[in-house]
This record gives sequence, C-alpha cells and structure tokens, in this order.
Amino acid sequence: RYRDPEAAEKMNPFAEQEAWEEHQIGKATIKFGSKDRKQAADDYQYVFEDGVEFIKASVMDGTQFEDELSSGNDDSSEAKTMLEKLQEDRKSLPIYRYREELLKAIQDHQVLVIVGETGSGKTTQIPQYLHEAGYTKAGKIACTQPRRVAAMSVAARVSQEMGVKLGHEVGYSIRFEDCTSEKTVLKYMTDGMLLREFLGEPDLASYSVVMVDEAHERTLSTDILFGLVKDIARFRKDLKLLISSATLDAEKFSDYFDSAPIFKIPGRRYPVEIHFTTAPEADYIDAAIVTVLQIHVTQPLGDILVFLTGQEEIETVDEILKHRIKGLGTKIAELIICPIYANLPTELQAKIFEPTPEGARKVVLATNIAETSLTIDGIKYVVDPGFCKIKSYNPRTGMESLLVNPISKASAEQRAGRSGRTGPGKCFRLYTKYNYDHDLEENSVPEIQRTNLANVVLTLKSLGIHDLVNFDFMDPPPSEALLKALEQLFALNALNSRGELTKTGRRMAEFPLDPMLSKMIVASDKYKCSDEIISIAAMLSVGNSIFYRPKDKQVHADNARLNFHTGNVGDHIALLNVYNSWKETNYSTQWCYENYIQVRSMKRARDIRDQLEGLLERVEIELTSNGNDLDTIKKAITSGFFHHSAKLQKNGSYRTVKNPQTVYIHPNSGLAQVLPRWVIYHELVLTTKEFMRQVTELKPEWLVEIAPHYYQLKDVDDSGAKKLPRGTGRAAL
Ligand code: CDP
Ligand code: MG
Repeated sequence: RYRDPEAAEKMNPFAEQEAWEEHQIGKATIKFGSKDRKQAADDYQYVFEDGVEFIKASVMDGTQFEDELSSGNDDSSEAKTMLEKLQEDRKSLPIYRYREELLKAIQDHQVLVIVGETGSGKTTQIPQYLHEAGYTKAGKIACTQPRRVAAMSVAARVSQEMGVKLGHEVGYSIRFEDCTSEKTVLKYMTDGMLLREFLGEPDLASYSVVMVDEAHERTLSTDILFGLVKDIARFRKDLKLLISSATLDAEKFSDYFDSAPIFKIPGRRYPVEIHFTTAPEADYIDAAIVTVLQIHVTQPLGDILVFLTGQEEIETVDEILKHRIKGLGTKIAELIICPIYANLPTELQAKIFEPTPEGARKVVLATNIAETSLTIDGIKYVVDPGFCKIKSYNPRTGMESLLVNPISKASAEQRAGRSGRTGPGKCFRLYTKYNYDHDLEENSVPEIQRTNLANVVLTLKSLGIHDLVNFDFMDPPPSEALLKALEQLFALNALNSRGELTKTGRRMAEFPLDPMLSKMIVASDKYKCSDEIISIAAMLSVGNSIFYRPKDKQVHADNARLNFHTGNVGDHIALLNVYNSWKETNYSTQWCYENYIQVRSMKRARDIRDQLEGLLERVEIELTSNGNDLDTIKKAITSGFFHHSAKLQKNGSYRTVKNPQTVYIHPNSGLAQVLPRWVIYHELVLTTKEFMRQVTELKPEWLVEIAPHYYQLKDVDDSGAKKLPRGTGRAAL
C-alpha cells in the first residue's frame, strides 16, 4: 500500500490504534430517566410536559496520553500576557509533540496525507509550523476550508496566536470578501476560492504549500482541487501538498495521490457515553429542546452542543429555549445560548469561543459546521438529532433541492466525539439504536455525485480542461450529470456545439456566481441594463435574509414589503426597488429599520454589487441603466434563467415547462396572490411542497426569442389564451 512500507510504519507509530472502538456495556437507563426527571422537576418546580427518554448503549473509548500536558496550568496565569497564554495553549495541543516528525515528513515527501482527530490542531498549527520552518520564504501557504465561517474564524485565531493583525501575515479569502494583503503568507480560504485562483495562476506559482484541509468533507470544490493539485504537483516539484482529514479512512486519499504516505496524529479523547432514545421522536426540534433542558437541570456543569440543520431551525430553537428557560425561574444555573451558522455576522461568531463564565452553562446551537470544521472547547454534552441538510440533484430533470436527510454513521461518530475533548463526555442521540443500526448509511455520498455540475464544468473548461470524462476524479460524477451540465452550458451559449468555451462563456467564467446568474449579467450588456442587473444579482446572492419579519409586527412588516411590489412587478424588480430606495437614502440604517429590511444583508449586497461592478469592467461590459423599461430587465433575467420557466394550471399550481413538474409560488413572493400565467423563478425549495422562490412574470414569446435552441413554439403554445375572442386582453385571464 505504501511506497515504502517500512518508512510508513516508522512515521506512523499509532497506525494500529483505533479511536472509534465501541464497547457494549449493556443497557442502563441514564440518570435522568423518568424517575430522576420527576425528582429534578420537584427540585426546580418545573415539569417537563413530555420528557425524552434515553438508553445508554455504549461507550466510545478515549485515547489519552499517559503524561497529559495540561492546558490550564493556572499557577501564574495573571502574570502571563495573552500571547504567552496562547503560546502555552499551542503547546498543549495533541499535534505539538509531533511537530518535528511532521516537518521531517513534509520535507521528505512532496505529498503527505495527514489524519488527526478534530481539535488536534491540524488547521491552526500546521501552517504556523511551516511558516516557522521557513516555507513561507518560498511562497505563500494556502489552507483550504469547505466553509466560509471556518476559514474566517480559523484565520482570526491564527492571527491572534501569531500576534499579528488579521489580514496582514495571516488572512482569509472567501467569496466576495478578501481579507489579505501583500504581507499575507498564511492564507486560509474556501476550497472554492482556491479553485478560482487557478484561473489567474494555473500553476499556483505564488504558493509553496497547499494544504487541502477537511478533505473528508469531499465537497465539490475539494474534489476538483484534488485533480488539479495532483496535476500541478507533477511539474512543480517544489510545491508541497498536504491533504488533511479528520477521519481514519485515509487510505483512499493515499491511494489517489499515488500511495502518498499517511501521517497520523494520535488524537486525545476521553471516553464518550452514547445514549439513544428508547423510541423514535416525532419532532426532533422539540426533542432537542427538551433534552437540552433535561441536561441543564440534571447534569453536572459542562457545555452542550446541539446539531441542527440550518439557520431557521437554529433561530427557532434559540427562541423557544430562551422562553422556556425563563419559565424555569432563577434557581437554576444561567444558560448562555450561542448560535453558529454560515450567515451569522462575524461579530457574533466570536461569542461561541468565549469561555463560559463560572457557574454558567453554554449551549451552542450549530449546523454541521461544528462536526469537524470548528472546535469549541469545553463541550461535554452533544445532542444529535441525526439530521443535516443535503443538496440533491436529479440530472434527468435538472432539479436541485436542499433536503433534510439522515446523517451517516461516520457523521454520528464525529458528532459524538465532540463531547470528549476536555473530559469524559456524553452524546444524546435523538433516534433509536435500531435506527442507527439499520437506517444510517456508513458514509455520506460525496457532493460531486449529487449536485449540478454546470459551474464546475465551466471552470474546468476555462482552465483549458476539455476532456472531462477522463479528468482524474477521485470518485467520478454520474455521466448523466456531466452531460446535463454540458447541455445546460450549451443552452446558455457558454459552450459551442463542439463543447468549446465561447466568448460569452469566457465572460461568464469571470463571475464567481452560478452560470445562470453570470449569464444574466453578461446578457444585460445587450439589453443595456447592467446597472440594474448587478443590483439584482447582488441581492439574490445575499440569500433570503433581506426582509425582516418580527413575530409581533408581522402585519407592519408585510405591508412595508408590499410597497416594493407596487404594480405586481415581481420579486426580482422588488429586490431592485429595495436596493435603489436604500441607495437613494444614502444607504441609511434608519430607513432599513423603518422598512423592516435587514441592514446587515443590505451592506453585504452593496459589497457584492461593488465587486460585480469591478468584474463588469474586466469583461468589458459597460455600466448602463435602463431603469424605466422593466421588460428589458426581465428579458436579461430570462436570458439566464429560461430553464426555470413555469406555466399556471387551472388549480393554481404551476407546471415547469421543460421536464414537467408541479410547483407552487412561494407564499413570501409578491406574486403569490397574483398568479401570472407564465413565470420565471430563481430557485426551487422543497418544504411542504415544491416552491418557486423569487418569481417574475414572463411573456412566453420571450422564451423562443431568447433561447430558440431550447424552446420551440409548441412549448410556449398558449392554448388557453388562443380561444379568447379578439379584443379580450391578457388581463381578463
Ligand atoms: O484542525 P483541527 O480540528 O485538528 O484543530 P484546530 O482547528 O487547529 O483547533 C485547535 C485548537 O484551536 C482547538 O483547541 C480550538 O478550540 C482552538 N481554536 C479556537 O480557539 N478558535 C478557533 N477559531 C479555532 C480553533
Ligand atoms: Mg481543522
């Protein structure tokens, strides 16, 4: 398996040690089973209406060092400066004792796979070790992260540890936000950003080391990076390549990188008790809340980490928990609630890393991000509902949706492990042992096999990689999905019939956006409305956090929102109206408050818009405004989104024009009551039904005019309208 088995053995003294071994120690009801819960309820004059019952199933073994280095050696802590304290923390990380060995291995091998449990110090320490060892004299060090928040927060931490200002020697780069300078030598970035850097620098000449971190996450961009970095490593012998992962299943990475040696950093973990519910839970949100409260009133102090699937869930749980904590009275310890998810504002992100005050308990409500990307010290209890949001894609219909799905066993183990970092932990799984054994897959499917590939195909094509079928994928995407992507790019006129990049395609690739959005922008040149279109693109890129709808002021908020929809202009133009009105008030915060608009989202939109404006210049598109002619703006939108067209049915539902499927206008849309005959939508979301979000009315003849190679007259044949006597306008429908 290894190029040199003996050397691999030497480098890898702990190869035999399995951290995830499980021990069956029989079934025992945990402490706050029904009896103790009653006791606790009496103690705290609080009744759990409907508690969650757990069974202890097993204990995950810990892996402690004999001569544990304590991190909190507090003898003279007051005399220490912050920097000294941080340096001590660094030395107490599991990776520290392997520093020299690791540097030696990196020196000896061009490609190295590094495996170490989450929290061992891979992300924060390895780039610093390399910097200290002089690697940055030859070029920058890139460290990729699948998630924006992780890139930002890790860079912030490392800059603290090095005692430098964030953005100077240590920086980060994420989409639409570049916090680096000429000084930057340690660059944390999303995997997607490094992918984009290939466009400007195909051999990554300014880098001496590339560390593809969190490789086990197998995001689409990471998988593509694998192929690209493997390729450049062949002719750039001076480039060091590190592939780091939190899972023990590293052989796959090693195999892919021509049997690169594996360096294992033995983890430090305490035993973790695993508990399952005795029966399936109907409502995992409610079960999670009750479990947190149960832990809080009955279990010794120690912070709690709850895994939820997204921002909305986190906000709901946050709200309900706050409310119910009030009901518990003052006799119980303080519970500090800290949410963390991708769109959380930076200033609030730091809160989760602040030490918990004495006597209080912290509960972190997190998305999957806390599974391996971020390590929060002091977590003793993990609540795992067993779900996460997963993108899935149907290459036949071209429909992509974000769905809540059960996690894999590998994820469940990672989540549980988060409770045993600083002492013995407990994990409460809100599903049964039977569910775990029978319903969970071993591993998650890599993103490349369940996503729309149009974006990646466009990037690869602009890197000059034409033969996609023979690209060196670690796990190849389904050929159907590749074909669909080529088809879509052809329909968007980004590729010609030979599959080569067109001028339009080249321009599109300059924008760090999905191909449909970039096409919309490129097309705005023709319709002389690039000014409006980049505002709309920026607003769409911010996501669904523009409008603010507080529970006690919903009517006011809804009225304010409807103001932007006057004339049933559709959601895209409404977004433009919001942006322009805000701009007219000179970007006033007060105006945002008055109109129930999230000022934070608007600032982000402005930021994105500025960058898109810069990119327009690069692709030589003039900034032109055609403000009063809404039809041309809608035509530019249609040029990008003609795939997403739908026609009204008699029962008020819609049917997508190609690949017919029943969909509905999202209730938040300004057109939800209007129900135009033909619409174009930005995206589909599946909640209770398949909803179209961000909807605009369309004239069917535009489809044939704009995408004649995709739509024929029969597709837009308006049979219902034809029967009407002359003189009856469309409005009569
Ligand atoms: O990458 P890996 O999971 O191996 O560990 P890491 O992210 O380098 O984390 C090492 C230590 O840095 C942990 O004890 C974290 O708590 C700490 N850390 C932090 O305090 N703040 C951050 N933003 C990131 C890490
Ligand atoms: Mg890490």
